[in-house]
Amino acid sequence: MSRVTTAFRCGECGYQAPKWLGKCPDCGAWNSLSEEVTNKRSSSVDRAVPQALSEIDISQSDRITTGLDEFDNVLGGGIVPGSLVLLGGEPGIGKSTLLLQSLSKMSEPGSGAGPVLLVSGEESPQQVRMRAERVGAGDDLKVIAETDLSKIEPAIIEMAPSCVVIDSIQTMYHPDITSAPGSVSQVRDGAARLMRMAKTTGCAVLIVGHVTKDGAIAGPRLLEHMVDTVLYFEGQANHDYRILRATKNRFGSTGEIGVFAMVEDGLAEVGDPSSLFLPHTVDSGGALLPPGTVVVGSTEGRRPLMAELQALVASSSAGPVRRVGLGVDQSRLSIILAVLSERGGVSLDGEEVYVAVSAGLRIDDPGADLAVALAVYSAKRDLRLPADIVVFGELSLAGEIRPVRGHGERIEEARRLGFKRVLCGSSPAKSIPIKNSDIDIVSVQDLTAAMKWAVEA
Ligand code: TYD
Ligand code: MG
Repeated sequence: MSRVTTAFRCGECGYQAPKWLGKCPDCGAWNSLSEEVTNKRSSSVDRAVPQALSEIDISQSDRITTGLDEFDNVLGGGIVPGSLVLLGGEPGIGKSTLLLQSLSKMSEPGSGAGPVLLVSGEESPQQVRMRAERVGAGDDLKVIAETDLSKIEPAIIEMAPSCVVIDSIQTMYHPDITSAPGSVSQVRDGAARLMRMAKTTGCAVLIVGHVTKDGAIAGPRLLEHMVDTVLYFEGQANHDYRILRATKNRFGSTGEIGVFAMVEDGLAEVGDPSSLFLPHTVDSGGALLPPGTVVVGSTEGRRPLMAELQALVASSSAGPVRRVGLGVDQSRLSIILAVLSERGGVSLDGEEVYVAVSAGLRIDDPGADLAVALAVYSAKRDLRLPADIVVFGELSLAGEIRPVRGHGERIEEARRLGFKRVLCGSSPAKSIPIKNSDIDIVSVQDLTAAMKWAVEA
């Protein structure tokens, strides 16, 4: 058995101490010492052997399907054997549910995934079973409720699963390290052990990591550097939809997103996310939207997503004038309002402006600028836009409309959903060809032209 010893090292100057100190005696920095593994005696002296790429066997690397198409897409086509995947997200967002559902799909006979294992450090086997019954899954799924990695490792090696889930890394600890579970050294050491195990056994390891309020995976950002793939699961606590996105992927792109809805019996895949965010029916028979409402042709990752934006302009009572955006970036909103008043001649002096995106969606896309501007304009003028129009385009400070990424994809999605007209900027040089047989593309140069068109539409 190799024995691990640890020491405390100052993050500022590298000073090493045998025990933890509040202040580094060398450089004087406070609270800079953290525990790390110093020596790891190994019985044999292994030498690394270089290999030609052509000698490396890749026949084993067929991806394992998670049983959920949306999950597979985000991973780039399934889980790569021997890879280490980190799934981050706020507590309660549905990480355990997502992984339980896909593990149980994988454990079904005939799925082809091979044996899979759930290591739960947060829930008892009874709780896991109750949840599995609720989501209607998992008779054959194997579970270990344990937090001691020195016991978990041999169990995994003996069972030799094709995929193991560790829920969560913050609850795991190794007795060789003295600090508490969840501390930087435990988390780092645990992830490093799991990484070695994944690479040597070829078992894919999915690690759950809790995310703090400011969005970082608790404790160590360093986890993100260690793993092959980083996924985030996000959504609004009081809305049903959840978005799974990859922020790092060694085996695929980071542009794909997966959309799910949290329902009574677990997570349901949403193949058609736009439908979630369009409260009014798409209508080309002359129906009008309420004043201040515009359908924006946005994108989430690489996927086009149509959503409804609403604006309200209200005369201000005493006090500071409020400009509030829900689901749109606050500073972008301020810029758009300034452009609207200076370049579009829409005076908003002393008026409160509220903008909200349907169903609590967060739009982080400059292509939504023009739609925000038109929503505010139509709210101000009490204008009702026809229900068959989609709007997108980025606004410059001069009031011009700039081409956006995913121009063709946005138009294609609008057409698929039955919209008849698209108001946008000119198409960028590199854009997919548009089958524009049954959709009118109105491309405008600046905000004034867009406002004029909206009035006449
Ligand atoms: P969970 O997967 O435990 O979140 P995490 O592991 O990210 O902390 O999800 C918990 C939430 O999901 C919980 O608040 C209840 C909700 N939920 C449902 O609405 N329906 C269900 O079928 C399940 C299993 C959970
Ligand atoms: Mg959980």
